[in-house]
Amino acid sequence: MKALVLENIHPAAVELLEARGYQVDVHPKSMSEDELIGSLAGINLLGIRSNTTVSARVLDSARDLEAIGCFCIGTNQVDLVAAAGRGVGVFNAPYSNTRSVVELVIGEIIALARRLPEKTLRMHDGVWDKSARGSHEVRGRTLGIVGYGNIGTQLSNVAEAFGMRVVFYDKADRPAHGNARRLHSLGELLDIADVVSLHVDGRPGNAGFFGAEEFAAMKPRSLFINASRGMVVDYDALRSHVLSGHIAGAALDVFPVEPKAQGESFDSVLRGLDNVILTPHVGGSTQEAQEEIGWFVAGKLAGFALEGSTALSVNLPRVLPGPLTAGHRLGFLHHNVPGVLAELNAEFAAAGDNVVDQHLSTRDHLGYVVTDSSEPLPPQAVERLRSSEHCLWLRTW
Ligand SMILES: NC(=O)c1ccc[n+]([C@@H]2O[C@H](COP(=O)([O-])OP(=O)(O)OC[C@H]3O[C@@H](n4cnc5c(N)ncnc54)[C@H](O)[C@@H]3O)[C@@H](O)[C@H]2O)c1
Repeated sequence: MKALVLENIHPAAVELLEARGYQVDVHPKSMSEDELIGSLAGINLLGIRSNTTVSARVLDSARDLEAIGCFCIGTNQVDLVAAAGRGVGVFNAPYSNTRSVVELVIGEIIALARRLPEKTLRMHDGVWDKSARGSHEVRGRTLGIVGYGNIGTQLSNVAEAFGMRVVFYDKADRPAHGNARRLHSLGELLDIADVVSLHVDGRPGNAGFFGAEEFAAMKPRSLFINASRGMVVDYDALRSHVLSGHIAGAALDVFPVEPKAQGESFDSVLRGLDNVILTPHVGGSTQEAQEEIGWFVAGKLAGFALEGSTALSVNLPRVLPGPLTAGHRLGFLHHNVPGVLAELNAEFAAAGDNVVDQHLSTRDHLGYVVTDSSEPLPPQAVERLRSSEHCLWLRTW
């Protein structure tokens, strides 16, 4: 069993895969399409970050590849449809940097409330400007969280812990954490929040959803934070409201257009504004998050390869069978057409093999069923299923 791990992925991933029996080849950089094609023979698991593109051409050449781990949040760098069509599972780490984002936002709320960006600039310019003018505690202030998912809920808990009141608005039905108060419209939230922090996802309908009208509805001298997606906010409108003084400060970590490479120049209408913090999409970038991502994704790859679990796969039907403690397991990835489950179970019945546990899930054109039985299915039955026109792969454990 062999894994190839690219792009300086945290050693925690390598340790976990080695502990689960894999020989792991480590390569510090990303690989081009042709380099990948030349390197994937005999590789069962591939680990990448965002700079390696796995195209249909790469997948076609990678006969031994079972799964790809994206040791990051996004999975755009992989042709997910082509991977699913070839039965290659793709996994990522959607939640491993939640805490890092929350801590950045908390730091920014305090920094903006104390006008630290201006104060530190003045000190670097050699100006001693000791004054309490415009500086506030955040205790007792109202934080309005828009998007109460993984990050929004954790921010809610931490903000309450240091004395903020929390209100939130989410399109979905999300239960309140702690003493946070759920509001039924964005308008209600903008009416009362001293700080508005966006944590919505990147669904297409969210493009430009926070613009001139929403900034105008915010309380005078309130603060605005966006560490979600650049495209959800109209930054020209934000600029006008910062210049007019209506918005007293803002912190932005994400932008509609972001430089692709390290060191590339960055431009924004928000550059040079007072009490505006600009950071290069580093909300989730901490050493701790990297380690957590390494451990999390490696665990998902091993769970898929060694137990047949597709839990949190981004492209295969999701089945989470328990650990295989006794008996035998058969995983069958197939085209999602009527009769496949009957065909499979007929083989178990004909062999007089007792099925002790069975999980089926479907996703688009694929179906995946994991069957635990007291005896292994006879080799001829396995071969019949493997050669079925509906079978993408069949694995036994
Ligand atoms: N800055 C960074 O480095 C960084 C790191 C991680 C995640 N993120 C981004 O943070 C955002 C939140 O991440 P998450 O893991 O909490 O996502 P999530 O999917 O868990 O939560 C998003 C929430 O927003 C809600 N929502 C979506 N559109 C909405 C709208 N128009 N109005 C109100 N609610 C809406 C959803 O119902 C959901 O509850 C994502 O956009 C993610 O890409 C940024």
